[in-house]
Amino acid sequence: MSKKVYIESYGCQMNVSDSEVVASILAQDGYTAVHSAEEADLVLLNTCSIREKAEYTVMQRINEMNNLKAANQDLKVGVLGCMAERMKENLLVEKKVVDLVVGPDAYRSLPQLLEEVGSGQRAVNVLLSREETYGEIVPVRLNSNGVTAFVTIMRGCDNMCAFCVVPFTRGRERSRDAHSIVNECKQLVSEGYKEVTLLGQNVDSYKWKSPPDAKPNGSAAAITDFADLLDMVATACPGLRIRYSTSHPKDMTDKVLEVMARHDNICKYIHLPVQSGSSEVLRRMNRGYDRDWYLGRIAAIRRHMPDCAISTDIISGFCGETEEDHRQTLELMEQVGYDMAYMFKYSERPKTLAARKQADDVPEEVKGRRLAEIIEAQKLSSAKRMASYVGQVHDVLIEGVSKRSDEHMYGRNTQNSVVIVPRYGSQLPVAGSQAAMQGEGPDEGSRTAPATNNQQPATTELCPGDMVRVRITSATAGSLQGEPLGTVHETVAQA
Ligand code: 5AD
Ligand code: SF4
Repeated sequence: MSKKVYIESYGCQMNVSDSEVVASILAQDGYTAVHSAEEADLVLLNTCSIREKAEYTVMQRINEMNNLKAANQDLKVGVLGCMAERMKENLLVEKKVVDLVVGPDAYRSLPQLLEEVGSGQRAVNVLLSREETYGEIVPVRLNSNGVTAFVTIMRGCDNMCAFCVVPFTRGRERSRDAHSIVNECKQLVSEGYKEVTLLGQNVDSYKWKSPPDAKPNGSAAAITDFADLLDMVATACPGLRIRYSTSHPKDMTDKVLEVMARHDNICKYIHLPVQSGSSEVLRRMNRGYDRDWYLGRIAAIRRHMPDCAISTDIISGFCGETEEDHRQTLELMEQVGYDMAYMFKYSERPKTLAARKQADDVPEEVKGRRLAEIIEAQKLSSAKRMASYVGQVHDVLIEGVSKRSDEHMYGRNTQNSVVIVPRYGSQLPVAGSQAAMQGEGPDEGSRTAPATNNQQPATTELCPGDMVRVRITSATAGSLQGEPLGTVHETVAQA
């Protein structure tokens, strides 16, 4: 009987993607992934250290493992990811329930570590690597909707932003073999996936050197940068929608923007974390750009792609932040008009440059008040951006049934906004095709109920993976609502 593993991911998309690599390594070792901790022989928590609150949540969850172990004496519990790396064997000391601690670069050693755990020991491997990219491992897709998938293109980060623990928990930056990335995307297409998100802590510094030619006079190694990689994936998989995250304002090139503008299947959405609108705070954050540089990058995006959505990350109350600095953040938000933002209170992290060199001197209530003002400003900005889409026609990739109503489906437009559409409707034409002009429906096979004798129009049900052309009819700050005009076949989508 195969062993059962349950993997729970916290924090960023990279952790979700890493969990899929872990599931693949464990599948080779005879484990099947299950959907609840209660049915598992092994529970792995893939953890996040980015803010203190994130670690607190995981610590609570680790405590809950005591109850599960009481019910199942054979259960083993492992901690993976950033907290494993940051706390190392201390986790075993602090939490007796934990059997296994494995850092982000050590997942290949899981089978061997599990053997040690099986013989009653507790096991740790938190070695960071300069080379590990898990490049050739084919991830096992967990909790997949069958439509969208993550593909990791690089690991680690060399930037050393003063507030950030990531360089300490995920190590040095390294890029994955471009061909293995393209192959993974092609494989996803063949499995029916319609969208990928290419992931890296700072995708703009992706750089892959193909190994020197095997020929005796070995030609110089060619370098693939992020723009080249995007071009390669978009060309190799014309029917696949491509997103990526995260960009860094200091490294984002016009070459990337040109490639995005050139390919219809690269989504017009950029997540460009600003962190602060004050050049002085940005300098202390060691971000490598100032306010004017950042606004220059925004102008470049708008120049290349006027319809591109932009989102950001903002930290309130970083060390030494004054009211004037905060005001400049609010003003920058107004100027850019972000579609969406992730907003946080500064949380000091051990070992970081800021923790060592700068005082966490903005009082908690001031951080809270500034964050509330930032959130309020973003609500207005999101509402304004979303309202501007009303009346437009967008291509929406359907991802699943709406959480609020079984009668509706949700999907995303190229700008990454959620669009809600009715699940059932009269049979849809193929947008832009002959059939649409003649009023005929697409061949939707078993999903289309045939027209009845009394000439009632046939109904169709939208399904995950459908690409639908939608007229946007209304908007809130969080989502758009629309009416489908027709399904979009891949050839039409790429036209
Ligand atoms: N405190 C608050 N927010 C942080 N982030 C990273 N480190 C911290 C911290 N110490 C935020 C940044 C980053 C996002 C992933 O998390 O905004 O872009
Ligand atoms: Fe952290 Fe800065 Fe690297 Fe992002 S770019 S992971 S914020 S150090």
